[in-house]
Order: sequence, then C-alpha cells, then structure tokens
Amino acid sequence: MVIVYIVILLHSSFKTASAQSPKKAKVFAYDMFDEGVHSSFLFNGSSSIDFPALQLTPDTYNEAFKLPRKSGRIMYKHPFRLWLSDDIENDVASFNTSFVINNYRMKEWPAGEGLAFLIAPDHIIPENSYGQWLGLTNETIDGDPTNHIVAIEFDSKSQEEFDPDGDHIGLNINSIKSKTTVPLNDSGFDLAPDMDANYSVWIDYNGKSKVLEVYMARYVLPSVEKPSKPLLKETINLKDHVKDKSYFGFAASTGDPDIQLNCILKWNLEVDDLRPRKDMKRLNIGIGVGVPAILVLALCGLKLGLVYLKKRKRASDEESILHGTLKRLPGIPREFKYRDLKKATNNFNESMKLGQGGFGVVYRGILHEKANDTSTGVAATVQVAVKKFSRDNVHGKDDFFAELTIIHRLRHKHLVRLLGWSHEKGKLLLVYEFMPNGSLEKHLYDSSNQNTLHWRHRYKILTGVASALHYLHNEFDQKVVHRDLKASNILLDSDYNARLGDFGLARVLDNDRNSYAELELGGVPGTMGYVAPECFHTGKATPESDVYGFGAVVLEVVSGRTPGVRVPYEQQNYSLVDWVWMLHREGRIQEAVDERLYDDYDVDEAKRLLLLGLACSHPTDSERPQTPAIYQIISGNSPTPCVPPFKPVFTWPSMVSTFSSSDTTFSSITLSSGAQGEN
Ligand SMILES: *[C@@H]1O[C@H](CO)[C@@H](O)[C@H](O)[C@H]1NC(C)=O
Ligand SMILES: *[C@@H]1O[C@H](CO)[C@@H](O)[C@H](O)[C@H]1NC(C)=O
Ligand SMILES: *[C@@H]1O[C@H](CO)[C@@H](O)[C@H](O)[C@H]1NC(C)=O
Ligand SMILES: *[C@@H]1O[C@H](CO)[C@@H](O)[C@H](O)[C@H]1NC(C)=O
Ligand SMILES: *[C@@H]1O[C@H](CO)[C@@H](O)[C@H](O)[C@H]1NC(C)=O
Repeated sequence: MVIVYIVILLHSSFKTASAQSPKKAKVFAYDMFDEGVHSSFLFNGSSSIDFPALQLTPDTYNEAFKLPRKSGRIMYKHPFRLWLSDDIENDVASFNTSFVINNYRMKEWPAGEGLAFLIAPDHIIPENSYGQWLGLTNETIDGDPTNHIVAIEFDSKSQEEFDPDGDHIGLNINSIKSKTTVPLNDSGFDLAPDMDANYSVWIDYNGKSKVLEVYMARYVLPSVEKPSKPLLKETINLKDHVKDKSYFGFAASTGDPDIQLNCILKWNLEVDDLRPRKDMKRLNIGIGVGVPAILVLALCGLKLGLVYLKKRKRASDEESILHGTLKRLPGIPREFKYRDLKKATNNFNESMKLGQGGFGVVYRGILHEKANDTSTGVAATVQVAVKKFSRDNVHGKDDFFAELTIIHRLRHKHLVRLLGWSHEKGKLLLVYEFMPNGSLEKHLYDSSNQNTLHWRHRYKILTGVASALHYLHNEFDQKVVHRDLKASNILLDSDYNARLGDFGLARVLDNDRNSYAELELGGVPGTMGYVAPECFHTGKATPESDVYGFGAVVLEVVSGRTPGVRVPYEQQNYSLVDWVWMLHREGRIQEAVDERLYDDYDVDEAKRLLLLGLACSHPTDSERPQTPAIYQIISGNSPTPCVPPFKPVFTWPSMVSTFSSSDTTFSSITLSSGAQGEN
C-alpha cells in the first residue's frame, strides 16, 4: 500500500510540473541612466554612469588621453536564474533584451575596440582585458571554459588572425574568438561612426529551442522597428556554458591608439522566471527523484515496502524506549552517569564538538540505550547534545543549577528540550535533544553549505523564535529572560523549526539574578550587535533587551549579515541597524534583503520583517514592541510597525518624553494601521 501511494504522489507531482510551464517574466526597462539608478548596477573597471548613459569606458572628448587602454563592465545587480540543475526537461530561461548603443568616435580616432552584451557569473573584470579582449577575457584566461561567459560582441576593430574584415558582430563563448561572426559591411552599419548615430539591438533567446537571434537597426526617432530578419542566428544551450545564476550586462574596451566611446543609452530585459515556487519544492523532488524512482520502485516494489515498514517500526520503538526510560525515572529530567556521557561523546572528542557557548562546550553524543522493555527486545541508539560546563567550580555549579531549574520546567515546542543532567566528581553536564540541522548561524554563514537558507525557512525560524520569546516573557508562570539571543543559540530541528537553546544566561526574573555584571564575565557577555544599548549602562537583561536581541536576529536573518560586522556603503561603514534604517529612510529597505536569496523571497514579508527588526532595535527600551505584539505582527495578524525615517537618538538615562509629541521626526514607533512609509 505504501508503495502505491508513493508512486502516485510522485507521478502526480510530475504532471503538475509540466502544467506549470507558463511563467511570468522578470522585466526591467531603462530609458536613460543617471546617478539615481546607480545602485541597480554593479560596476567594475573603468565604467561609470554619466547621464544619460552607462559608460563602459570613459566618455570625454576633451581629454582623449584618458581613453586608451581601458576596459569596464556594468552588470545588473541581481543575477537571474537561467536553469535548474534538477530539471529533466532541460529548460533554460528564455529572455528578450533590447538596448541602444552609441560608440561615437572623433574623426581622428581610429575606431576600437568594441562592446559586448554579456552573460557572466559576476561583474568582476579580468586584469588587462583592454584592447582586443573587450573587457571579457585576457591573454591568460581566454577560451577557458571556467569563465562561464557568453557574449554578443559588437566589434569595431578586427583582429586579423580571427576576425572578419571591418565591423562585425559575433557570438562569443568564453573567448573573444567568436564561435560565429557576421560582418556588418553588407548591412551598412558603421559600429563606431564619426558622426551622431545610435543603434538598436535586440537579442532573443528561446530556452526551449535554444535558438539565439540578434537583430540590429539604426536608432532613428520617432520609431525604430525591429527588422524581420535576424543578423545572427545560432543554436546554443546556455546551460552548457553559463552558471545557473548569471548576471546580465555589458563589457567594453578601448585599445591604443584605437579609441571610441562605449555607451548604453537604453536597456530593456525580460527573463523567464524559472524560480522554484513554493509548491515546486516538491515538484523538484518529483522530477529529480521521481522518474528514476518510479522505475526502481516498480522493480523492487514489495521488498522496499517491507524495509520501509520495518524502519518505521524501529524509529517508533526508539522513541518509545527513550520516553519509557525517561518516564520510569522519578522527576524528569533524568540523571545520566558521567561515564555514559563520556562514552557517548567519545571522551569529549574534538570531532564530536557541536559548538561553544559562554559557559561550556557542546558535544554530540550517541547513547546506547539498553532494552529494558523486554517486549520489543530492541536496543536503541539515541543522539543527544551534551553541554559540558567549563567552570567546574562553585560558580559553575550555580550556573548549572540555575539552568537546570529553569529549563526543566520550561515546555515549549520552540525551546530545546532538556533530557537530563549529570553531576559527578565536580563535572557538570546537561543533556539536550539533538538538533540535526545545527544552528541558525551555521545555515546563514557556513560557506561549505551550498544551499542558501530558503526564505520560507527564514520566516518560519523567526516565527518560532518570536513564539518562544513570547512564552518565556509572558506565558511561563515566572518571567524568564533569555538574555543571550543570537544566531548561534537558535537551533534547527530536521524540519527547520527554530528551537531556542542555551539558557546558560537565563535567570528567573524575580530572583533578581538577571544582572550581567554578577556573572563575572567581564561585563556584558552577549555578542556585539545583539546587546541593547541600555545594557551597557544597567548591566541588566530585561524582556526589552531580549526584544532588542530579537530585532538584531531578525535583521540578520533577512539580510544575511552579522549584526557585529559593519556594512560598507557609499564610502562609509554602518552598523547593520543603521544601514537598514538608512535604506528605510531612502525608501529602499528591500535592498537590505540577503542577495543570496536573489528574487526567491516574498517582498511583503521581507519588508514586514525588516520594519519589525528596526522597531525592535529602537534605542529606547520602552519604545520597543513587546513580544505579544511581535508575535501578532510576524504572524500577519497585526499591521507592520510604523518606523520613523531617522533612528531615534539613544539617551541615557532614558528621556522618552523629551522627544515624544513635539518632534515628529523622532516620533516613537507605534503600531498603526495607516500608511506605511514603505510599499
Ligand atoms: C573590481 O571588483 C573587484 C571585486 O569587487 C575589486 O576588488 C576591484 O578593485 C574592482 N576593480 C575596479 C577597477 O573597479
Ligand atoms: C520574448 O519575445 C517573444 C516574441 O515577442 C515572446 O513570445 C516571448 O514570450 C518573450 N519572452 C520573454 C521571456 O519575455
Ligand atoms: C587575466 O585575468 C586573471 C583574472 O583577473 C588574472 O589572474 C591574470 O593575471 C590575468 N592575466 C594577465 C596577462 O593579466
Ligand atoms: C564584407 O566582408 C566579407 C568578409 O570580410 C567579404 O567576404 C564581403 O565581400 C564583404 N562585402 C562587401 C559588400 O564588401
Ligand atoms: C544618440 O543618443 C544620444 C544620447 O541619447 C542623443 O543625444 C543623440 O541625439 C542620439 N542620436 C541620434 C541620431 O538619435
């Protein structure tokens, strides 16, 4: 039965995949370029914007000495997804682009070298790519397939060895030696004319038929018509050459003495949207695994079914044994034997180390549970996380019991569960549930992790953290502050649900044990960027300072940037909060979203989170939203907070009243159903 079900599931998801083909194209259209659109492009080499054009090489008539031996690239700032690695239909994104070029030269300048429309893995121009290299390659790397570039060159100077005479266009793959060239002498186009002439170019690529066509016409107003016949037509599977996520843009170069201007006056681009949608996550599995899986399953159907059922039984046995064992012990959590934990962690071996916190090191442990339950007779293996406290002295013991008394009474699906403890020979250990997906920090920054943390997961994680904080601050019978909220303390279960861990710093509030100073850790132990400004004065953690830490985590998760690292932006370095706040003021808060997400995120959700992150980062503690409101906002039941355009000034002691009603610029953050600054 199980098998039949799986086959049907895979099969039906496979069907929906083909039915989903009509995709929306992503479009942009620039009718001119000025400094206002600077941030939409990536520049490298000698490129710039000079109204009304993108200038790939310098644009000046009077200082012609500045023109020779230059090369530059300008790429649209976001890459586009051109193909999906697990797509059996082998679809490549179709695209249409059109642009207007101007390669003016003075009469006395010999024309050169040329300009190219470029698809590339990045915007970085190779060294010494001036002259014949067109800003595409250089002597060393020309022809190297790892260049991953495809370009259409508009070459105004022919290289005798491989170019046709005179002006020509060409299809270039990883090299300036074109795969196909089309001389322009017949068409009457003078690419770099010594007179005022602009050209319109259209490049159409069909991702199904893999046909690429280039059209060209003189750009003469009032209307420019696309010719009926392409100048160049070639079949090319882009998937064989360019990266799955590639940038679109232009490159150009000048030589010596051959010089010209290399300008783009207008640019339109439409690219098929190949993004895997929410419901396509399953589709990808359906396609990638599905087809072979159907065959395999058909072949060994019943056998697999049995194994599958057996496995399931074993998994649930393991669970019941663990629970059974725990239940039999008086008072959960249970006490573990030190030697069992030592064995489980391979004598606290470095290779078992999961992480390090303020109070100790956390190891992965494998516990071999003996079968006490004779009815199953199965011995189970359970993975756990073992925290070994580093300070085996009295203070350590206090930390340990503080953590134990709090944790063992806390029950929430977004908190890491404590399974047990051990206290022998002065050694303090806590045993937690093992979180197979590790920490949020690892998922955000580990470069060995190829897959960028998905937007859906990011949102879900923040929702979980908000709900855990809400529980700690309000729902638990005593108020608990976590006081060390940061990405490394947020763990992920197998389904990417957030679990707040490391209550090493948590204290029960009414115990008045919430001071940082008293921990003798040399002041504030929290990590830079997560600690609320008032904490540096009070040394005390409060629910409000937890909210500040949460705000930092929100900004971090959305932007993919550590709060402790400053963001370089227009010749200055900003803290993460200040940077996001500035983008908010300039009406472009969306630019703070992690670039590694490309366009795979929900714009409204991202803006909501960023504004919430700013609201929580309010320098004045009483102005930060509280966890019930946060939870409502994050789950979409309350409107996005209204955030003032300028970050309010931090004052100590807090002087909220002095800038509350009179000065609107510094008005406090309020929940409002009215217009939002951003949309
Ligand atoms: C090109 O970009 C790279 C990487 O961002 C940078 O190191 C280099 O300085 C840039 N070169 C020029 C000339 O802008
Ligand atoms: C490109 O243009 C063709 C013909 O005008 C059109 O059918 C196709 O949908 C366009 N593709 C994209 C990605 O815009
Ligand atoms: C070509 O570019 C690569 C990458 O920028 C560089 O390492 C190499 O030195 C360059 N070759 C020459 C001859 O400049
Ligand atoms: C154009 O150039 C090609 C190759 O360089 C040559 O074969 C052809 O005769 C030229 N046509 C004209 C009209 O000059
Ligand atoms: C070419 O473009 C430039 C810049 O937009 C413009 O000033 C010029 O008039 C155009 N020339 C023609 C012939 O359209």
